[in-house]
Order: sequence, then structure tokens, then C-alpha cells
Amino acid sequence: MSLPAGGVANPGGGAAAPGGSSSFLSMWRELLPIGRHRGSGGYRRYAWTGADVDCRAWFRTQAEARGLAYEVDRNGNQWAWLGDPLAGDAVVTGSHLDSVPDGGAFDGPLGVVSSFAALDELRRRGVEFTRPLAIGNFGDEEGARFGLACVGSRLAAGQLTVEAAHRLRDGDGITLPQAMEAAGYDPDTIGPDPERLARIGAFVELHVEQGRALDLTGDPVGIASAIWPHGRWRFDFRGEANHAGTTRLADRRDPMLTYAETVLAARREAELAGALATFGKIAVEPNGVNAIPSLVRGWLDSRAADQDRLDAVVTGIERAAREHAERAGIDLDVVRESFTPVVEFEHALRDELGKILAGRGDAGRTVPVLGTGAGHDAGILSASVPTAMLFVRNPTGVSHSPAEHAAEDDCVAGVVALADVLEGLACS
Ligand code: GLV
Ligand code: MN
Ligand code: MN
Repeated sequence: MSLPAGGVANPGGGAAAPGGSSSFLSMWRELLPIGRHRGSGGYRRYAWTGADVDCRAWFRTQAEARGLAYEVDRNGNQWAWLGDPLAGDAVVTGSHLDSVPDGGAFDGPLGVVSSFAALDELRRRGVEFTRPLAIGNFGDEEGARFGLACVGSRLAAGQLTVEAAHRLRDGDGITLPQAMEAAGYDPDTIGPDPERLARIGAFVELHVEQGRALDLTGDPVGIASAIWPHGRWRFDFRGEANHAGTTRLADRRDPMLTYAETVLAARREAELAGALATFGKIAVEPNGVNAIPSLVRGWLDSRAADQDRLDAVVTGIERAAREHAERAGIDLDVVRESFTPVVEFEHALRDELGKILAGRGDAGRTVPVLGTGAGHDAGILSASVPTAMLFVRNPTGVSHSPAEHAAEDDCVAGVVALADVLEGLACS
């Protein structure tokens, strides 16, 4: 049984329905149509667009329906509070609701929906909260619109300056402040939010796994150990626009060829270094079928288990690109647009999660601890607050695709695991 992007396989949720599952399913169904593209079946929930605004309205409705105190912080991140937000030592959970272009239904929303469902489950258990609890929706995690991932959490954590945030533009030249304003949010307040982060004692993000490690171990839920260092680099190849039908091959300065050679080099270098390198986005000028391009702009996403490998792969790709460019008379600029160093999640919190989960459900069963190459708000926030992550099994490992999915039973297991963790951390 699975929860595909296009619908819920078993909308009734089955009879067994552990606590949290029925509220999970009804929230899931409500969120499914928002920002879903009819043609691709994937999600286009880009930051500050109508789909994002609709997701944000959904979040607010969920918060208010549960009597939680709803607020938006200075960077447009949404919060739903149970208990006093100013008391300190809060336990926070949540994730993001935006998507990559034609993304899946689970990357981000699974964490937010599971957070509300886990709270429902804790209320069903009748537990008493000894620490404030909050659920967060962090803005623009994917960076699909402005090119930089985790903008909301980076701003809050002081890892993105206000000046740099003001310079962010989307493909149509709209700046981040303009986009926030158009969505009804105040861009004048953006900036570091250390006081808010200081009130958080622990942040736990639940996320669909973006690989098959849990499928291979046969576990529905795992705990994150680390996030690989990763970054985005922009390669601008400039040549000379000319007529596709009249310009002799020998007379061309075609940046597309150099770009293509660079893509092949990226694959080779990644294999050599045991790393990952992907050119997944490209912009071409003038972008005419009968014109040799004047500019090819390609974005490299590269990630590796450690910094040395990442440096090796990116250096190797840039070297190859420069060699090919020089031979072909192409001008090349390479700009690092973002970088996130390796994140090692706090061992004490991670171990505490392990103990809580091992002591419940399948008694004595050790929950696997795994690393990931995917970036998360939890990774950004880990520099400021004790942070941990739970992963829910993804049977195919597919993510950033409409085909991303997780089984309904595993989603419910994720809700129960998150409820167990929140109970262990925030309840008497
Ligand atoms: C976010 O999903 C990323 O790792 O790119
Ligand atoms: Mn993602
Ligand atoms: Mn995500």
C-alpha cells in the first residue's frame, strides 16, 4: 500500500489505524492537490508563489484548528506553538512545504503533516507536556525559485546575510523581497533571529528518506547521522551567437559544445572521486532552435561524503571546463552560489532518539542510523540548536520526482516514532 503523489491508496486508512493515522490521512488528502501540475503529476510549490501561499494557509488552518498559537517569524517561517513560545528549552519539529520543479508529494510535507499528526497522537495518549512544543514550516527549503536552498532557516541562523538575500532573483528577475511582499509577507524584517533560536532546546525533523538504505535494512524508520557537504556552482560559457544554417563548423564559437564536454567531465570526475556531480539546470541564450548560442549557463550540484572528495571533484570539473573552453575560444566564469559544510548531528540527541525508539514498539529493536547526501533545514539549524532527524522508508529511493513515494504503513510508523520522540523529549 502506498501514498502516491496522485492520491491515497487507502483513503480510509484501514481499521487498525494507530493514533495519528486518521488525522495524517485527512491532512495528506487536503494538501495533495495544492501546487500539483496536471501534466507531470509533480509539485511546483515554489517559494512565495500562489501554491506556496496556499500551503501556508493550510499550515495556519491546521495550527488554529488545534488551538496552537500561530506566528510568522521575521523571515517568513511559520510556527505553531503549544505552550509559551518565550519560555525557552522548546522542542520543535516540522519541515518544509515548498518543492523542487515537479517534485514529489513527500519531500517536506511528510515532515509537516507528521508533526501535526504526532501532536494529535500525543493528545490521544493524554500526556502532559513539560516543555513548550512547536511545529515549523521553513520557507524556501529547496531553493527552486531563487537558486539558494534553505533560505528561511539560513536567514534565521545568520548563514545568509540580508544583503545577499536582497540580491536573490528568480528567473524573471523578481527579487526575494518583491516576491515576499507579493505573497503578503513583510520583507523589511528579514535577518538573523538568534533570540528565537535560543528558545529551542531541540529540533527534530522527520523526512522521507531520499535513498534506499531503510529499504535494504528492512526498517520503516531510521535516524540521521550526518549530511554530506554539498554546494551549487554556476558555470557561464560565453561564445558567439550566429546562424545555425550558414556558419561553417570551423568558424563557430559554440558554448554548448564546451558545456556538453563539461557535463561528461563531471560524470568522470565524480566517478574518480567517489562523489556525486549533476548538471540539472541550464539556461541558453538566445535559446533559438536555429541559432548557435551566445551563452550557456549550467548549474552544477555536487556532493560527497567528505570535504576532500568534494574539493577534488569540483576542482577536477572546473579544470576540465577551462581546458575545453580555452581550446574552443569560449569565455568561462565559475561562481560558487552556495555551500553547506558537512553536518554531523549532535550525538547526545541522536543517541537519545535511538534509546527512545529502541525502548518502544518492537522492543529492543535498534533503529538504523544513516547519513544522507540531501540537504535539510535541520542541517542548517544544527549549527545553532541541538538537532536530529528521523527518516521514513522510501521503497524505491526516488525523490525530487513525481514518482517519489512511501507506504502508508511506513508513514504511520513515522508519525508514531515522532510522537514517541516528542513524548520522550517534551513530556513527563
Ligand atoms: C534538498 O532537497 C537538496 O538536498 O537539494
Ligand atoms: Mn528536497
Ligand atoms: Mn526536503
